[in-house]
Amino acid sequence: MRIRSEIIGCGSYLPERVMSNAELSTMIDTTDEWIVGRTGIKQRHLAADGELTSDLALKAAERAIAHAGISAAEVDLLILATTTPDNTFPATATKVQTKLGMTNGAAFDIQAVCSGFVYGLAVADNFIKAGQAKTVVLIGAETFSRILDWEDRSTCVLFGDGAGAVVLRAGEKIPDASPGEVGHNRGRGVLSTHLHSDGATNDLLYVDGGPSSTQTVGHVRMDGKGVFRHAVANLASIVIETLEANGLAPEDIDWLVPHQANKRILDSTARKLGLPNDKVVVTVDRHANTSAASIPLALDEAVRDGRIKQGDLILMEAMGGGLTWGAGLVRW
Ligand code: COA
Repeated sequence: MRIRSEIIGCGSYLPERVMSNAELSTMIDTTDEWIVGRTGIKQRHLAADGELTSDLALKAAERAIAHAGISAAEVDLLILATTTPDNTFPATATKVQTKLGMTNGAAFDIQAVCSGFVYGLAVADNFIKAGQAKTVVLIGAETFSRILDWEDRSTCVLFGDGAGAVVLRAGEKIPDASPGEVGHNRGRGVLSTHLHSDGATNDLLYVDGGPSSTQTVGHVRMDGKGVFRHAVANLASIVIETLEANGLAPEDIDWLVPHQANKRILDSTARKLGLPNDKVVVTVDRHANTSAASIPLALDEAVRDGRIKQGDLILMEAMGGGLTWGAGLVRW
């Protein structure tokens, strides 16, 4: 017998301030046409002065807990995926834990940049499967605007701030089944997660600061074309790996909920899967790239507007600095 982790609630939060491409073009040498044409991004949300990653994370987590219909006291693990913690330490997750009123268990941050949410999904799922946690709040939250070089037009136009969260809970015990056996991919919950990283590609996307190297926070640096090339290849391979592990074909997927880096990358993955565009949840036009927050933000939007329904098969995938990449397959 084995335990499935079921997603029983979701929530998200975007800061109020919206910066359009037109506003950006008054600050740096860029245009709305260039940004939309290369990325699909039209605007991004930015955290207010004094509004921290923990504030965004808390609001998303509160909404996810309310949606799940549980109380914070039932949560025994809180995982926060972020690249922009409030401080070097303590873990921002511990601040959110206390503000939520979570009194049991543990809270920690994980860092896999834009792949943070799928990494967190794998960690949460494995804690639940191992019997070490029963109710997990998994948050992706970022104030990426704080680590951007606002004079570097090749990066500052791409990112935004926001947070999204899900609540996972240990479901009923179900009989063991291996890929290919009838029923192995039926039932609710996380069906599988798949993670990869390759530190040989650190230089493609990184921050040029940190506590141990420069004692400064630093700014995002990126080889855009190199990242693009790897994204297209790595995301196609992770999607195939996930489908094969579950004995499924692309047409079995009801919704692709990808990390929202760039519309051209989303289109390329959908094309490789043979998925029509209306099966892909897209928020990059309005949110830009919110790193670890982008998947739960997109998921929450599609759940609340009724696109994602119980029983739907959802494929989430992401790639980020490291490079890291991964995917999770969930029956809603
Ligand atoms: N506005 C106007 N022009 C810009 C610009 C901007 N915001 N940013 C760069 N340019 C210019 C460059 O200076 C260059 O000009 P030049 O030809 O005179 O030197 C030209 O546009 C082309 O730049 P290039 O970097 O070759 O563009 P590109 O086609 O590779 O597109 C990205 C750039 C960043 C949009 C694209 O590489 C990309 O999306 N990469 C993936 C990034 C990503 O998703 N990262 C996060 C992963 S989690």
